[in-house]
Amino acid sequence: SVAAMSDDAPPRHRVPDRYAALAAPPGPGAFASTPDTDPAVPENREWARAVLARVADSRLGTDTITAARLDTAAQVDDVVTGARVAASSWAARSADERAAVLHAVGDALEAHRADLLEVMASEAGKTLDQGDPEVSEAVDFAHYYAELARGLEHVDGAVFEPARVTLVTPPWNFPVAIPAGSTLAALAAGSAVVLKPAGPARRCGAVLAEALWEAGVPRDVLRLVQVGEHDLGRALVGHPDVDRVILTGAYETAELFRSFRPDLPLLAETSGKNAIVVTPSADLDLAVRDVVASAFGHAGQKCSAASLVVLVGSVARSRRFRDQLLDAVSSLVVGPPEDPRTQMGPLIEPARGKLLTGLTTLDEGERWALAPRRLDDDGRLWTPGVRVGVRRGAPAHLTEYFGPVLAVMTATDLDEAIAIVNDVDFGLTSGLHALDPDEIATWLAGVHAGNLYVNRGTTGAIVRRQPFGGWKRSAVGPGAKAGGPGYLDGLGTWRTARAVQ
Ligand code: ALA
Repeated sequence: SVAAMSDDAPPRHRVPDRYAALAAPPGPGAFASTPDTDPAVPENREWARAVLARVADSRLGTDTITAARLDTAAQVDDVVTGARVAASSWAARSADERAAVLHAVGDALEAHRADLLEVMASEAGKTLDQGDPEVSEAVDFAHYYAELARGLEHVDGAVFEPARVTLVTPPWNFPVAIPAGSTLAALAAGSAVVLKPAGPARRCGAVLAEALWEAGVPRDVLRLVQVGEHDLGRALVGHPDVDRVILTGAYETAELFRSFRPDLPLLAETSGKNAIVVTPSADLDLAVRDVVASAFGHAGQKCSAASLVVLVGSVARSRRFRDQLLDAVSSLVVGPPEDPRTQMGPLIEPARGKLLTGLTTLDEGERWALAPRRLDDDGRLWTPGVRVGVRRGAPAHLTEYFGPVLAVMTATDLDEAIAIVNDVDFGLTSGLHALDPDEIATWLAGVHAGNLYVNRGTTGAIVRRQPFGGWKRSAVGPGAKAGGPGYLDGLGTWRTARAVQ
């Protein structure tokens, strides 16, 4: 039941012994991260201009989605049953064979980088500088999970039995990297996948699926679906032959899924309300840069975004950090994704509900250091907002607005700042800017969040270097981290060799 979900922080994920080599710090010859497109290379700038021209053309473009539309309960059943049948032959392939397909997927995603950037910009409003690292991350997931798949074989005394059908329900905010990571993890583990992209990003999901099929993932093993009605979502999530659900989205969605089926085997990455703490020992120039990127990258629509900055001691008392921050934020160029000057693009949908409240209302003691302004008629394009004077326990301290609005809080010392960070129900990412080793150690020991970043922004975890996943209400399920060793273990069951004989 919903009540059975625990809010306790799961233990830090332990890495199984057989992954010890992969878990070691990267060294020569180890896993190499896929580089992003380097804009210093003139050819790359030409290439980017060509992609942007296609974005402008395709904004009103045609919908050629190959997804199966599920309009009836019988269609839901057909898709799940069909995936279950196909799963047997996929699971029967050796880990080496599956790994070869995944490596080919990595190459195909790289080959389709322009197509993926185009659809992310035209459908989801992602600027190229935000979409490009997302493609790199998807490529990394393919190559990394290919290698992890081999770790599921050759374990003395135990056999890994993959989930047969994994339902993947990704969010719209990382419409390529997250569906790619979840789908490829399940495929690497030997499971068939039913992929239901988020409604506002379904073309992104379709372009992604096409690349996977092209690279050799069988069409009956990866099923791309759209769900017509809410009730059919319930039928899909609650289908007894769905063995695992990988959800990335709001905590409330995880609760909803559990209400559909109390015993649902759910691996969910849920909401975040993430802070960056800035102490007097910090390099303030660096801190400003990282706060701005973490708060306003993709218009603040990241689960990993920093929507809170906590200024400690003299940083709170002096005007230097605040003035520099406001200069930087107010200089951000807001516009459509196809304009190369744009630094902050539109929201995926017009602001409403909680986000509209966050963009337009103040609570006691607060004032706008920069008030968000709506620039278009429908409410997708906003200038970034910075709210100061936020009191402990106020909505802006505790609420994930999921948009371009940053709250500034102050603390007399680091202990108080840590307490402010830990007040929130979520614990996904957390940042510290400090150069003092004792402050860094105190913060690392005291903060309750899955991904802790020192002197770096809170977004853009790198596969294998920074496995990604949260604590508290930021995770539901086993709590293994995406892009880290052990993630595949949640996508099946280990049985002792004796039990399977
Ligand atoms: N993995 C994404 C990030 O780190 C959510 O920003």
